[in-house]
Amino acid sequence: MADKKKKFYITTAIDYVNASPHLGHAYEKIAADCIARWHKLLGEDVFFLTGTDENAQKNVKAAKKAKIAIKQFVDSNAKLFIKLCKKLQISNDDFIRTIEERHKKVAQQIFELLHKKDLIYKGNYEGLYCTGCEAFKTEKELVTGKCPEHPNLQLELLKEEAYFFKLSLYQDRITQLLEKKYFVVPEAKRKEMLSRIKEQGLKDLCVSRKNLKWGIPVPFDKEHTIYVWIDALTNYISALEYPKGKYKKYWPADVHVIGKDINWFHSVIWPSLLIAADIEIPKTILVHGFINIKGEKISKTTGLVIDPFSITESYGVDSFRYFLLREIPFGQDGDFNEKALVARHNNELADKLGNLVSRTAGLTEKQNTKVKQVKQGQANKTLFKKLKLKEIQKHMQDYELDKALHKIFDFIDDCNAYIQEKKPWQEKDKEKLNNILYSVSDSTRIIAILLWPFIPETAEKIAKQFEFEIKSFDDCKPSLLKLSKIKKAPILFKKIGLEDGLKKATKSGELKKGLRKGL
Ligand code: ME8
Ligand code: MG
Repeated sequence: MADKKKKFYITTAIDYVNASPHLGHAYEKIAADCIARWHKLLGEDVFFLTGTDENAQKNVKAAKKAKIAIKQFVDSNAKLFIKLCKKLQISNDDFIRTIEERHKKVAQQIFELLHKKDLIYKGNYEGLYCTGCEAFKTEKELVTGKCPEHPNLQLELLKEEAYFFKLSLYQDRITQLLEKKYFVVPEAKRKEMLSRIKEQGLKDLCVSRKNLKWGIPVPFDKEHTIYVWIDALTNYISALEYPKGKYKKYWPADVHVIGKDINWFHSVIWPSLLIAADIEIPKTILVHGFINIKGEKISKTTGLVIDPFSITESYGVDSFRYFLLREIPFGQDGDFNEKALVARHNNELADKLGNLVSRTAGLTEKQNTKVKQVKQGQANKTLFKKLKLKEIQKHMQDYELDKALHKIFDFIDDCNAYIQEKKPWQEKDKEKLNNILYSVSDSTRIIAILLWPFIPETAEKIAKQFEFEIKSFDDCKPSLLKLSKIKKAPILFKKIGLEDGLKKATKSGELKKGLRKGL
């Protein structure tokens, strides 16, 4: 019988390329990567998409400011986002850029389809537009006449012929959808959308702009370009070759991972467009919080930006990934702070995980013999019982990444305590000694599997050292480690003196003031 794996399609938002990537972009990709890798461990057929949102007016403005031709500007900035994915070991299967033909074609196709179905009509738009949000704004949404998200930006007053999408038709459907648990996760973010829709209702949405040179043309009216959010949202199906190819296998998306500021577009507008086009809607919109720096919002306008590249250079990719995933309760806002990163690197990665691995390998090497495989039920039973596998799995299923990681580290503590208690260095009985060493080696194997979604590079180093392969969550049971000649290896995490850390911090991770083109 053909092996029919369950599919799992996960996406991130696609990033504007008006400047180079910041911490928020890095965080979103790391969180999505962790989930994608977890589902790979579960044996699912995962498709993981990320990309860049390139047709926006804010990109045009930034290019102008930098005095660089727009095409050249988006090309060079998009490269940085691709580079970031590589640097952070993001396991994306594709990277879509919305200036690509394959995307334009589908965005136009959807627009045309909705027009043919009479769900898009021509009218006049008169009102405000915020290029920060790339969104049409009503007076009601403003605070002292400014966009609350972008108080430094001048709102544009538009008065132009435009196409409108009959969003108002979908108010009941979307309300019902939002009443369903798990369509938007976490709960608080779902309720927020539900009360907003109940308060404001849904009005028809302007979906085109006139006389813009940069953007995807409305296929049947070349004076107009498709409103950038409509264009951007379709990336999730254009990358799958809608309506053919991978689309057939992977759509609907299992999870769209996004930040809280774009929840409305994903939980309300996107499903409305899909319903209108007779396309299935995604299963879950997973909303993460915002990363602040020392309590303040990351802002390209005020220059409060930390460069994820230099942070990774200074501390290593896994320490960065670990910090973000462990520190921030998923769904909530979190603070980025290098002191806290250094503390977690030293106290958790070096002292707990690093210590377990180096002690286990060191003690085994000292034996100068292979650790013999011990059958299940004998050696590692006591230790294995302490592993809260079901709880870890449940946390991952509920997207509580920080809690799952916490539980894995509890088990690392248990393993370290076990070594301390059993004192293998004093054990004279060869068989007992083998059992102790096998128990911790085999547990370390399980730990590496569980940690792979979070810190893949480190997990793979451990696998190499302990001579096993990371393949499946099913291997998280005892006694699978084969006869093994475990050797000492270079230390996994060198401690960072707080002094060094902060020195490094000011050298490379400092708050950079408007240093990049187009800020
Ligand atoms: O919104 N902390 O692009 P974007 C955490 N192109 N996440 C953050 C963040 C922060 N400080 N700042 C931004 C766009 N993000 C659109 C998306 S999708 C069809 C189109 C998140 O570059 C933000 O919430 O402004 C979003 O999910 C992603 O980074 C890209 O933001
Ligand atoms: Mg944004």
